[in-house]
Order: sequence, then C-alpha cells, then structure tokens
Amino acid sequence: MRIALRIACFGLILIAAGLIRVPFAEAQDACVDCHKASKEERLSRPALKIKDDYHLARGLGCQNCHGGDQAAVGNKAQSHSSAKGFLGKPNRRAIPESCGKCHSDPVYMRKFNPSIRTDQVKEYYTSLHGKKLREGDLKVAVCTSCHDVHAIRASKDQAAWTYPVKVAETCARCHGDAEYMKGYKIPTDQLEKYKQSIHYEMLTKKGELASPTCSGCHGSHGAAPPGIDSVANVCSHCHAATAELFDRSAHKAAFAELGMPACVTCHSNHDVVKPSDAMLTGGEDTACATCHEANSAPLKKAAELRTMIEGLSSQIDQATAILTKAEHAGMEIGHPRFELIAAKDSLIKARAETHLLKVEKIKAITDPGFIVAQKSLTSGQDLLTELQFRRKGLAVSMLVIGAVLIGLFLKIREVDRRRGPR
Ligand code: HEC
Ligand code: HEC
Ligand code: HEC
Ligand code: HEC
Ligand code: HEC
Ligand code: HEC
Ligand code: HEC
Ligand code: HEC
Ligand code: HEC
Repeated sequence: MRIALRIACFGLILIAAGLIRVPFAEAQDACVDCHKASKEERLSRPALKIKDDYHLARGLGCQNCHGGDQAAVGNKAQSHSSAKGFLGKPNRRAIPESCGKCHSDPVYMRKFNPSIRTDQVKEYYTSLHGKKLREGDLKVAVCTSCHDVHAIRASKDQAAWTYPVKVAETCARCHGDAEYMKGYKIPTDQLEKYKQSIHYEMLTKKGELASPTCSGCHGSHGAAPPGIDSVANVCSHCHAATAELFDRSAHKAAFAELGMPACVTCHSNHDVVKPSDAMLTGGEDTACATCHEANSAPLKKAAELRTMIEGLSSQIDQATAILTKAEHAGMEIGHPRFELIAAKDSLIKARAETHLLKVEKIKAITDPGFIVAQKSLTSGQDLLTELQFRRKGLAVSMLVIGAVLIGLFLKIREVDRRRGPR
C-alpha cells in the first residue's frame, strides 16, 4: 500500500517535471488533432507551431484564446459552437483586447506568476502603434507583430522575437522595410544605423544586457520606457551621472532655449559611437558647429579641455608601453601597473566631466592623474635601467668566468706537457 502510494507520488512528480508525457492529454485535444490534419496551411500551421508556445507550457491551449470545446473530438460543429464560446479568429484591431482578456487581469495572471506586469495593453495604447491602431491603421505593430502567434515565447527564451538581441530584427521587419513603410514620412534606416553603434556592439558582441536595443530606448509597450517623459530624454535614464553634469553646465539652459535635445544633439540617437577627445575641438563636422563659430571663446576653452585630457592620455600610454617592455624582459611590474589604475580612473572621470565645461574642474582631475602616470613612467624607466645594469653585470661576469676557464685550460696543458710522454 505504502509502496503503491510512493510510486504514484513519484509518477506525479515526473509528470509535473515534464519527464513523462501523458499520451492521452495531447490525443484528446480536438482542436490540435483536426487542425494538424488540415491540408490548408493557414489551418494546420497553428497546430504545428503550438508546441513552442509558452501558453501551452503553462497548460493553456487553443480554446483559451479562441474559445470552443477541445473535448469534442472530430466534431467541428461542436468544437466551433458558439454555445461553447467559440470566438473564431480575432480581427487585427481586436488582438490587443484578445490578449488583454488575461494579460490585463491581475487576479488571473498572478495565479501563474505573482510578479508579472499586467499593464501591457494599457501601455500599448499610449504608443503611436496603439493610437494609430485605434484610428484604424492596420499596418502598425500589434501584440503578435512583436511576439509572433502560436509560438509565443517568454522573453528570456533565446529564440523569442523579444529576446534582447533579437528585438532589433523584430522591429526592423517593418521599420527597415522601405516598401512596407512607404506611406509614412519617417526614415527606414534605424537598424542600419543602430548596427554601427556602441550600444549594439556592447549588447551583441560583449553580451552587455544593460546596453539598449530598440525597446531599451523606446519601451516595449508604451510610448517610452516607464519613468521617462519622452524618448528624447531617455539617455539620462541609464547615464545618470553624465546627465547630472550636463544639467549643471552652461549648455543646459542654452539647449533648452533652442529646443534641442540634450544628449542626442551631440551624440545622435541610433548610431551613438564611442566618443573621442577630438570631438571637443568643434570642427565643421561636429555638432558644436551648429552653435559655435571656429575660434570663438567657448571653442578655445574646449581646446584647453582637450589639451589637458590628451596630455594625461598620452602620459598613460607611454607609461603602459614602457611597463609592457619591462614585463616582457621578465621584470616584476605589479606595483607600478597597479598605481597606473588610479591615473586611468582620472582619465575616465575627466572625459565624463567635460559635460560640465569647466576648465578648473578638469584640471583638478587631470593634474593628479598626470603625476601618478609620471611616477609609473619613471618606475618603468628605472626598471629598464636596472635591467641594462644587470645585463652589463652579467656580461662582465661571463667575461671573468671565460677568462678563468681559458686560464685553467692552459694550466692543465702546461702540467700535461711537463709530465712528458709515458
Ligand atoms: C474536426 C475538425 C476541427 C476541429 C475539431 C476544430 N476545428 Fe477549427 N477549423 C476547422 C476548419 C475546417 C476550419 C476552416 C473554417 C471553417 O470551415 O469553419 C477551422 C477554422 C478555425 C479557426 C479560424 C476561423 C476563421 O475565422 O478563420 C480557428 C480560430 C479555429 N478553427 C480554432 C479552433 C479551435 C480553438 C478548436 C478547438 C476548440 C477547433 N478549431 C476545432 C476544423 C476544425
Ligand atoms: C495565445 C492565444 C492563442 C492561442 C493559444 C492560439 N491562438 Fe490561434 N490565433 C490567435 C490570434 C491572436 C490569431 C490572429 C492572428 C493574426 O491575425 O495575425 C490567431 C489565428 C488563428 C487562426 C487563423 C489563421 C489565419 O492565418 O487565418 C487559426 C486557424 C488558429 N488561430 C487556430 C489555432 C489553433 C488550432 C490553436 C491551438 C493549436 C490556436 N489557434 C492557439 C491567438 C491564439
Ligand atoms: C513593438 C513590439 C511589442 C508589442 C507591440 C507588444 N510587445 Fe510585449 N514585449 C515586447 C518586448 C520587447 C518585451 C520584452 C522586454 C520587456 O520585458 O520589456 C515584451 C514583453 C511582454 C510580456 C512579458 C512581461 C513584461 O511586460 O515584461 C508580456 C506578457 C507581453 N509583452 C505582452 C504583450 C501584449 C499583451 C501585447 C499587446 C497589447 C504586447 N505585448 C505588445 C515587445 C512588444
Ligand atoms: C487565456 C489567458 C491568456 C491569453 C488569452 C493570452 N495569454 Fe499570454 N500568458 C498567459 C499566461 C497565464 C502566461 C504565463 C505567465 C507566466 O507564467 O509568467 C502567459 C505568458 C505570456 C508571455 C510570456 C511572458 C514572459 O514571461 O515573457 C507572453 C509574451 C504572452 N503571454 C503574450 C501573449 C499574447 C501576445 C497574447 C495574445 C495573442 C496572449 N499572451 C494571450 C495567459 C494568456
Ligand atoms: C508590424 C510592423 C511594425 C513593427 C513590428 C514595429 N513597428 Fe513601429 N511602427 C510601425 C508603423 C506602421 C508605425 C507608424 C509610423 C508613422 O505613423 O509615422 C510605427 C511607429 C513607430 C514609432 C513612432 C515613429 C514616429 O513617427 O515618431 C516608433 C518609435 C516605433 N514604431 C518603434 C518601434 C519599435 C521600437 C519596434 C520594435 C520593438 C517596432 N516599432 C515594431 C510598424 C511597426
Ligand atoms: C539609444 C537609444 C535608442 C535606440 C537604441 C533606438 N532608438 Fe529609435 N530613436 C531614439 C530617439 C532619441 C529618437 C528621436 C525621438 C524624438 O525625437 O522624439 C528615435 C527615433 C526613432 C524613430 C522615429 C523616426 C526616426 O528615425 O527619427 C523610429 C521609427 C525609431 N526610433 C525606431 C527605432 C528602432 C527600430 C530601433 C532599433 C533598431 C531604435 N529606434 C533604436 C532613441 C533610440
Ligand atoms: C538602457 C540603458 C541605456 C540607454 C537608454 C542609453 N545607454 Fe548609452 N550605454 C549604455 C551601456 C550599458 C553602455 C556601455 C557601457 C558603458 O560604456 O557605459 C553605453 C555606452 C554609451 C556610450 C559610450 C561610452 C564610452 O565610454 O565609450 C555613449 C557615448 C552613450 N552610451 C550614449 C548614449 C546616448 C546619447 C543615449 C541616448 C540616445 C544612450 N546612451 C542611451 C546604456 C544605455
Ligand atoms: C545648441 C547649441 C550649442 C551646441 C550644439 C554646443 N554649444 Fe557650447 N555653448 C552654447 C551656449 C549658448 C553656451 C553658453 C554661452 C556662451 O558661453 O557662449 C555654450 C558654452 C560652451 C562652453 C563654456 C563656455 C564658458 O565660458 O563657460 C564650452 C566649453 C562649449 N560650449 C563647448 C562646446 C563644444 C565643444 C560643443 C560641441 C561638442 C558645443 N559646445 C556644442 C551652445 C551650444
Ligand atoms: C555639447 C556636446 C555634448 C552633449 C550635449 C553631450 N555630450 Fe556626451 N560627450 C561629448 C564629448 C565631446 C565627449 C568626449 C569627451 C572626451 O572623450 O574627451 C562625450 C563623452 C560622453 C560619454 C563617454 C564618456 C563618459 O562620460 O563616460 C558618454 C557616456 C556621454 N558622453 C553621454 C552623454 C549623455 C548621456 C549626454 C546627455 C545628458 C551627453 N553625453 C551630452 C559631447 C557631448
């Protein structure tokens, strides 16, 4: 009796863990069976795709979205009967509400996942996609445009259309298709440009999931990510320290007055590249030229900032080069290399601090950094001098040893000769 109970419990655990498939559970789904057998691709595709759908994994099937009776095997009239709540195929405009039947119901959703958000539909209608759908534009994205249908996967699934590194392609299926977007007055180069950006590189090549894809800046559902008043201000959401420096600078008021967005004016939006010190010079091809003439007082000040930063940067490069040389020669460089980290930190800080536009502030950071780098450079030079000294010493001692050996050899020969032939 006990053993039977144990076996039953074990069996239940295996079923729960998905290790045993219960054959009749699938076989009895009238919707899947009949649709799988259909020769019409439109009808069979949903039944073939559904094995990859997260809803199925959570115990939900065709009837949970479409209504109807999944127990009426082989009987379409009954399966599709309106008495059993059959809804048919939702038309495109009704899709958000159709998903929202569950996803906007916190009581229902929390039975599955206590922490899942239930504001997707509400948020969706704040986006241009949602607003235009309400106006009857059927080309905008609806839930199934970004999540697929019948193979809806959780966002953490690497094959999901919404998995971070997949999102850009998902959006670009429409936004990168000039033919599809022909009727709209917006560019179709966002993906192309995004692929040139530091954000794309960090996300796709370095696996840095904090680096944004399209939805990191535009939000997944709403008009912007939660907590952001407009996409133009989204950079500050992640680059808070830099934004705080900008806010205290002379540029804050100047940009606001001209109605120019803070970060995007200088860095652009989709193709944000790794900035360089040269950007500070403010030539024809930089954003500075929009507001500052060549040789104007602000650009002279900017050139001063650049000189200080480049001075520190080149000092660090020299110290690094000499320490590397010493290391390759087998010298112990742990301590000076450790010290150099402080100088590198100063450089990073100084580059961020350029957003404040204050010469004295940058000087207060680069000067101590320069001294540290100078010290590392000297240590490296000392190590190389010591190395040369050691090499000279080695040469001298080799000479002495050689001389002694020759002397010994001659002495032995002399002794041998004196003894004469035996
Ligand atoms: C015995 C076969 C059969 C069964 C069982 C069956 N269907 Fe269908 N279904 C069809 C056929 C055939 C069509 C094509 C349209 C039609 O003839 O009504 C269809 C069409 C559909 C459509 C598309 C309707 C449209 O407007 O284009 C949906 C959605 C659908 N079925 C869902 C279901 C669901 C959910 C179940 C289970 C509750 C189910 N079907 C059970 C055969 C079946
Ligand atoms: C998570 C909700 C959901 C589940 C589960 C689901 N469907 Fe659908 N189904 C939809 C939506 C939404 C559409 C409309 C898609 C569109 O217009 O792009 C649709 C469309 C369809 C269509 C019409 C396809 C066409 O191209 O005209 C059929 C047939 C269908 N579903 C059958 C099924 C069957 C059979 C199952 C179970 C194997 C199923 N669906 C499970 C949401 C669902
Ligand atoms: C423009 C593309 C897009 C549209 C349209 C869209 N989603 Fe999403 N959705 C995403 C992305 C990207 C994620 C994953 C990133 C995230 O968690 O924010 C996501 C995440 C989700 C999640 C996981 C939980 C969460 O909120 O993070 C659910 C549930 C969801 N979407 C449902 C919906 C529903 C329902 C609709 C229709 C009202 C919809 N989505 C419309 C792109 C979209
Ligand atoms: C019958 C109720 C129901 C309907 C209708 C429904 N869903 Fe779901 N959905 C769920 C449940 C329950 C989960 C599982 C939640 C969990 O366990 O985290 C889920 C999960 C999801 C997830 C995965 C969330 C994640 O963790 O990333 C996405 C995406 C999603 N649904 C999108 C949709 C879309 C799009 C539609 C409309 C085509 C839709 N759902 C219709 C109930 C439903
Ligand atoms: C099914 C096609 C489709 C998909 C997929 C799609 N969009 Fe859209 N999107 C549109 C259309 C159509 C418009 C309306 C353009 C207009 O009216 O200017 C639009 C508008 C927008 C706008 C507003 C543009 C403006 O005029 O200011 C943004 C931003 C946007 N989409 C971002 C995204 C992002 C991010 C994704 C992916 C997460 C995405 N879209 C996925 C079709 C799509
Ligand atoms: C680093 C943040 C960021 C990323 C990543 C990003 N965008 Fe944008 N995007 C913006 C900003 C900022 C604007 C300008 C919005 C404004 O002026 O109101 C914009 C504008 C747009 C527009 C309006 C038309 C245009 O080009 O000006 C569309 C459509 C759009 N983005 C789609 C996308 C798509 C698709 C992706 C992914 C391939 C993407 N964006 C990635 C920040 C971003
Ligand atoms: C979702 C968070 C997020 C958003 C939004 C975002 N970034 Fe980034 N950004 C990152 C991450 C993460 C990195 C890579 C790590 C780093 O260098 O800080 C990065 C890197 C950068 C870099 C290169 C930094 C360097 O040291 O080389 C610049 C410049 C930049 N972002 C500017 C912007 C601008 C401009 C915007 C708005 C249009 C923006 N970012 C929006 C997260 C974000
Ligand atoms: C939207 C217009 C605009 C852009 C673009 C712009 N500036 Fe300015 N900048 C101003 C205004 C206005 C002031 C404050 C008034 C003044 O000193 O001329 C200012 C002040 C400065 C100052 C501080 C001057 C002081 O005396 O404190 C520096 C340095 C500076 N800008 C450098 C730059 C650099 C470098 C760029 C490009 C990377 C740039 N600016 C881009 C408008 C702009
Ligand atoms: C007036 C033009 C200008 C504006 C406005 C501007 N930046 Fe920069 N940014 C620069 C320049 C120039 C550099 C390169 C400094 C260097 O390397 O010497 C830079 C460097 C950066 C870096 C890399 C260095 C660091 O701080 O880690 C980030 C990140 C960055 N900017 C983000 C932002 C953000 C976020 C905003 C908006 C709050 C913004 N920038 C506004 C010109 C600008």
